[in-house]
Amino acid sequence: MQVARTVQECRALRAAMPGVVGLTPTMGALHEGHRSLMRRAREECDSVIATIFVNPTQFAPGEDYTAYPRREQEDLAICEAEGVDLVFMPPVEEMYPEGATTTVSVGELSTILEGASRPGHFDGVATIVTKLFAITRPDRGYFGQKDAQQLMVIRRLARDLQLGVEVIGCPIIREEGGLALSSRNVYLTDEERTQALAISRGLRKAEAGWLGGLRDASALRGMVHEEIAAQPLARIDYVSLADAESLAECDGRVTRDALLSVAARFGKARLIDNTVLRIPAGLGQG
Ligand code: PAF
Repeated sequence: MQVARTVQECRALRAAMPGVVGLTPTMGALHEGHRSLMRRAREECDSVIATIFVNPTQFAPGEDYTAYPRREQEDLAICEAEGVDLVFMPPVEEMYPEGATTTVSVGELSTILEGASRPGHFDGVATIVTKLFAITRPDRGYFGQKDAQQLMVIRRLARDLQLGVEVIGCPIIREEGGLALSSRNVYLTDEERTQALAISRGLRKAEAGWLGGLRDASALRGMVHEEIAAQPLARIDYVSLADAESLAECDGRVTRDALLSVAARFGKARLIDNTVLRIPAGLGQG
């Protein structure tokens, strides 16, 4: 496995890579979710690049940029174990050279839900992912469905800017109790972690309702809200049921595939999770 720390090194090593190239961009503190992306890229591509970069521009002032876990040696060992060919882990100055002012914004999609709670977040994500695509020139990029809105933003930018990268969404990986894996789970105390299980429990309950024929948007949102709000340590940011394509919030009877998503704080950790409620095949979308 090769490791590049500068753009120039990365470009040179990428140029020598054979066949279909898969990219797994990460911010490090790698867990089983990241490993699943690397494994999928390894299975589907001839060459695999992973990037490890805690991107300052996607953190708002007061967020956890400084505290974000950084574990370089452990992360490199994980990449090696997953058969990654090249790791690009640049310092901040390499990705944001002095005087760089260009940013990428996908527009309205980045201003709702997570974008409303974290202003500027998706411009930071869109900018860094565009740069990483430009430097590593992958054929395919692998991203987790846990960050469902991020996945939509990245699909949009790849399409709009005609980058020629196929953006592939990969399933959420969960701990045994249901908690979605996240590098931010390390912030949770034992008590917070136990209470945070209410997020996936609420989503499962709403899913069961949906499978049983429940289609009322506020009832579905309510099932999730109620489950999480019953936890004394929870501070709910939002519970959303939105059209899976436009992210427009659903109202009344849901007739199209919808994304049920949650953001909630437990102590220092802001956790997000989601599930897609699909209209059963054959019934068509309204
Ligand atoms: O999902 C992440 O880890 C980050 O948002 C990403 C896509 C690597 C961009 O910094």
